[in-house]
Amino acid sequence: MFVLGIESSCDECSAAIVEDGKKILSNIVATQIPLHAQYQGVVPEIASRAHTQWISGVVREAFDTAGIKPERIDAVAATFQPGLIGSLAVGLSFAKAMAFALNKPFKGINHMLAHLYAPQLEAEIPYPFIGLLVSGGHSIICQADSFDSIRVMGTTIDDAVGEAFDKVAKYYGFGYPGGQVIDQLAEKGDPAAFKFPMPSLHKGDHRYDVSYSGLKTAVIHHLDEYRKGNAAATPENIAASFRKAAIDILLSRLLLAVEDSGIRRVVAGGGVAANSYLRASLARRSDLDIYFPSLSLCGDNGAMVAGIAYQYLARGESDPLSLAPQSRVPIYKRSLVHNQ
Ligand code: KG4
Ligand code: ZN
Repeated sequence: MFVLGIESSCDECSAAIVEDGKKILSNIVATQIPLHAQYQGVVPEIASRAHTQWISGVVREAFDTAGIKPERIDAVAATFQPGLIGSLAVGLSFAKAMAFALNKPFKGINHMLAHLYAPQLEAEIPYPFIGLLVSGGHSIICQADSFDSIRVMGTTIDDAVGEAFDKVAKYYGFGYPGGQVIDQLAEKGDPAAFKFPMPSLHKGDHRYDVSYSGLKTAVIHHLDEYRKGNAAATPENIAASFRKAAIDILLSRLLLAVEDSGIRRVVAGGGVAANSYLRASLARRSDLDIYFPSLSLCGDNGAMVAGIAYQYLARGESDPLSLAPQSRVPIYKRSLVHNQ
């Protein structure tokens, strides 16, 4: 079964053709980073406008690269939640129109479940596993019992981890987008140069939750030292110390979830899963079975959308063309992320 997957929830305009939920025939990702760089963050109006201008070219390229004609596909899928509403609407409307014109089934996809599915495109990963979903909008530690059955164990109580990277980079003027820039700077810095505060672990139901606003504020308070030219306050040292603190927060909760659940298989997904310190730290854990998507599948892409869509379609599930985009999905403890 060939599925066209469209992703337009934020600032990547992407389309992919995936066969049987596994084989990527094409995965075209047109990034809007240059359009948003001067604002040091995604401007929703610019994002939706660019999606409108790019979507048909990106989809056409996905077909050309895969070497198949639109009539050959079996279904069309698109991200419908969560994300920027205007951006979601563009990819979703395009996908629904294509499904209608081709008379093929349509499936709407949850962006976070798609991120967690991304490593399944490259390996056969059995369920259950502990999922680490980390992006610009989410920090979720969950137990995944199937591709669409996710029990959220912990989440952020304030900012998402990717957002903290982006904000710190913005305040320091390190560049955009922050996660990648800080990661690169950090490779040349001393992680022990500054000791930034770690949130203390909660007890009970909230023990897997993470928090980033305190760390973000503490790092931004060092801006004065940076400007005064304190010898230790180099971009590399600040980046390395911040990266270590930000990722250690995630690791402490993730490893607690592994110990408590007894599930020693861990799967990461989302833009922050590209972080080299996170990848290296978990790679050292030979007692765990760890899966990361390759770097090209960490960020937003259509292949993860087409891949997970196949799993629903194979079960006979599709969505009506009346499916509307949703900017937010409430994350309730002990319930599914995917609550349409
Ligand atoms: O999944 P994604 O592409 O979009 C969302 O769904 O949010 O994730 C983007 C986030 C941004 O916050 C970006 O700064 C962060 O992922 N990111 C990283 C790295 N590469 C991207 N954060 C830390 N280290 C990286 N290497
Ligand atoms: Zn994403």
